[in-house]
Amino acid sequence: MKILIINGPNLNLLGTREKSVYGTRSFDNYFEELKTAFPDLELEYYQSNIEGELINKLHEVGFSYKGILLNAGAYTHTSIALADAIAAIETPVIEVHISNVYAREEFRHKSYISKNCKGCIVGFGLEGYRLGLIYLNNLRPKTV
Ligand code: DQA
Repeated sequence: MKILIINGPNLNLLGTREKSVYGTRSFDNYFEELKTAFPDLELEYYQSNIEGELINKLHEVGFSYKGILLNAGAYTHTSIALADAIAAIETPVIEVHISNVYAREEFRHKSYISKNCKGCIVGFGLEGYRLGLIYLNNLRPKTV
C-alpha cells in the first residue's frame, strides 16, 4: 500500500529552523524511524519549496496511491491552487502541522486546504506524521 508524505516550503530545514517551534530533529532522520515502524506500508517522502511542484506531485500520485500526508507549510494559509489540487485527486489527503497553528499568529488559523482533506493533525510535533500513518495503516486490508 503506497503512501506518500509531502512536506512543503521550509520544511527541508527541520532540525535547524526555529528549533523551539519545530524541534531539533531532521525529517530524514525521523522518516527512517517511520519506515521501520510501518514495515507493511510502502512509504515515500517528497519535499519541495515550490508550490507548483507540490501540485504536480499531488497529480502524479493522487490517482494511484492509497494515502497522502501533506504538510503544506505556509502554503496552507495562502494557496487556493493547492486546495483545488487536493479536491481534484482521488487519494485521501491528511493535513499535518507540526506546531499548533491555532496557538500561533492569527494568519496561521486559516487553512485553505482543510476542507478538502480527510482530516487534520495539528500540534503534536513530528509525531503527527506517525498518527496519520496509524490511521492509514488501519485501512490496510487484513489478510487474517
Ligand atoms: C507548519 C505551520 C505553518 O504555519 C508554517 O508556515 C510552517 C510549518 C507546521 O508544520 O507547524 O511552515 O505547517
